[in-house]
Amino acid sequence: MSARIAVLVSGGGTNLQALINAQGSVLKSGKIELVVSNVPDAYALERAKKAGIATEVVVKKELGSQAAFEEKLMEILDGNRIDIIILAGFMTILTEKFTAHYPKRILNVHPSLIPAFCGEGFYGLRVHQAALDYGVKVTGATVHFVNEIPDGGEIIAQKAVEILPGDTPEILQKRVMEEAEWILLPQAAEKVCAQL
Ligand code: GAR
Repeated sequence: MSARIAVLVSGGGTNLQALINAQGSVLKSGKIELVVSNVPDAYALERAKKAGIATEVVVKKELGSQAAFEEKLMEILDGNRIDIIILAGFMTILTEKFTAHYPKRILNVHPSLIPAFCGEGFYGLRVHQAALDYGVKVTGATVHFVNEIPDGGEIIAQKAVEILPGDTPEILQKRVMEEAEWILLPQAAEKVCAQL
């Protein structure tokens, strides 16, 4: 069986691109059927369109509440018979109402070695800034299942990345993406899809 995958995005979508590129090689047991963005002009939507993948945009402000936003997302995901949901730079918190609907069916990629530099407020460049401020010498990326605790679900895979003298948040973000996230996320997606 090939799992039906939806990827949820908010920004540039380089992790989405890594998943698209992995289809047919690393990612064999699932297919990306849908990309959903909560940001109308996210570049990730262009990447999906170029790859011939259907897209949807769901904006919380337009729907008026978190509950209505999550209802709409669930309606779209269930309407498309989605098996696995991958959060790839999806910069909004999901409540238990949503996460409990898909137990062990939602994956997230986070740009640190959880439990370091994670939880509410730790996203994007802020994570790398926090690692540099603390002075750790090793960081990395984590792929985990999503539950009601931000970045608190069971860990699926992790990969360490060295921090080097002179790193800025931007330089470190690029290294963590290249050496960890873009490799780890397709591998973890395959592992979960293969076990369905
Ligand atoms: C990635 O580094 C991802 O790990 C991070 O945002 C970036 C999105 O980049 N996600 C989080 O911080 C979630 N807490 P992308 O849009 O190019 O994939």
